[in-house]
Amino acid sequence: MKVVTGSEMKELDKFVINFLGIPAEILMERAGLGVAENILNYFPLERYKKVLIVCGPGNNGGDGMVCARYLWDKDYEVKVALLSDKEKYKGEALTNLKILEKLNFSLEKPENIFAFKDLLYFYSPQIIVDAIFGTGLKRVIEGFFKEIIEEINAYKIKKEAKVVAVDIPSGVCSETGQILGTAVKADLTVTFELPKVGHFFYPGKEYTGKLEIVPIGFPKKIIEEKAPQREYLDFNWAKKVLKPRKGYTHKGTFGHVLILAGSRGKSGAGALCALGSLKGGAGLVTLASTKTLQNIYCSLIPEILTAGFEENDKGEISYKNLKDLLELAKNKSVLVIGPGLGLSEEIKKLLFELISELNIPLVIDADALTHLSENPEILKNYRAPKILTPHPGEAVRLLKIPKEEIMKDRLGSAKKLSEITDSIVVLKGPHSIIYSPDGRCGISSIDEPGLSQGGQGDILSGLIGAFIAQKYEPFIATSLAVYLHGSAGRYLSKNLGPFGYTATDVAKTIPKILKELSD
Ligand code: ACO
Repeated sequence: MKVVTGSEMKELDKFVINFLGIPAEILMERAGLGVAENILNYFPLERYKKVLIVCGPGNNGGDGMVCARYLWDKDYEVKVALLSDKEKYKGEALTNLKILEKLNFSLEKPENIFAFKDLLYFYSPQIIVDAIFGTGLKRVIEGFFKEIIEEINAYKIKKEAKVVAVDIPSGVCSETGQILGTAVKADLTVTFELPKVGHFFYPGKEYTGKLEIVPIGFPKKIIEEKAPQREYLDFNWAKKVLKPRKGYTHKGTFGHVLILAGSRGKSGAGALCALGSLKGGAGLVTLASTKTLQNIYCSLIPEILTAGFEENDKGEISYKNLKDLLELAKNKSVLVIGPGLGLSEEIKKLLFELISELNIPLVIDADALTHLSENPEILKNYRAPKILTPHPGEAVRLLKIPKEEIMKDRLGSAKKLSEITDSIVVLKGPHSIIYSPDGRCGISSIDEPGLSQGGQGDILSGLIGAFIAQKYEPFIATSLAVYLHGSAGRYLSKNLGPFGYTATDVAKTIPKILKELSD
């Protein structure tokens, strides 16, 4: 399934209506019917009787009017509040307004917030349908519309009413999930054909409530062809891309991951990264670190190969080992570099030299990302695929913009970082984003608070390395690893609760998720 922004949806809308010639009335009819059917399903007549449909000035209001007709026909008691003058409605919304008039519908036109409040409390609806703004929301909501939305939210709490949003809660920006002034807090949002970015990203997600997606007549093949390459990474997607394991294989079949990680005080990062690679099914994993840590790693994870290098006075791999490291990287499928590697100038020099000399796929994480923030553009010259896995703090350093700006537009930030580094970027967080310089994008279906813990990123970078080693195309490898990691966390949260499971627990759960996908 694809995920779109409101403006991308509008382009699709235009193509379907203007080029294919599917009448807009049909789309609106199906949209309004879809909302009504979901209300019947979630809030049945036996328990919920009175509905107020609040219609804004555009076509979202038109969808609301269609919904009103269907609910009325199913014996709900329905009132419609028009927030625009009747004369101002046009096109399909006007058509539907005229139908309601011919049916002698109860159409209210509150002139100000006091009139709206009177309507709300005298009528006392159990369900409010928010058909104020959909994807046409253009600017910050102020004045009358703001007051209406805030009144709906207050009423919902006071009267324990249910709120159903048409397409997207009014006030949520469909492109970013940001709140434009204020927004309706929905229990249920019924959207059309494809989910919108704003449904998943915070704070929009908290306003969306349960999300239902209904088809309204766009040919699936057209969506596939015309919608942007932004995939929703869920179970079905992962099942489709996971390659089966056939017979006649040997460890060489599944590639060799080289990990350069760990330093004094940060030894666990290297071990976790290696565990991630092993649990993701890499054929061989070599963990390269300092001589001191090598001894620990050997006894900690017997399944890995290890390499130990001379260390500096900070307990990091010394720069003197550059030549030997280049030699070690020869014939490896991928290098995962960064977890716990250290933040000294010496490590920075080592990293930049490796980047200028190597030509195998690179997964760059943690301390290596911090060093790279000095000059992320150097990655543009790197001759093999490279994947960066920043959390928002690391993205701040790489993009040199404040965190608030990144959080306001996570998709745009991931895209920008991907462009300036010509790399695949995983912007970690709830519903992690994967952006590829060729324009492909993935949005993880998983928002798992239990994963907010040290060490989880190390597992993820090792896991990405494992799928690259297994010859998955880099964007698919990265997206699959992000999905699996999140999915393992979700499984643990469901079974153990979201408190205190560890990165090791997540890594150990990955084979189970892989099994579910391949069954
Ligand atoms: N404050 C006040 N008014 C605002 C604000 C704001 N912050 N932001 C936008 N508006 C106004 C706009 O000026 C516009 O009013 P106008 O038509 O008087 O200029 C109106 O709000 C637009 O709001 P929407 O109803 O959100 O936008 P639109 O009319 O584009 O409809 C749509 C969105 C297509 C209904 C979408 O949300 C949806 O539900 N799609 C479902 C499928 C559907 O019904 N498709 C066919 C519709 S017909 C067609 O597209 C031609």
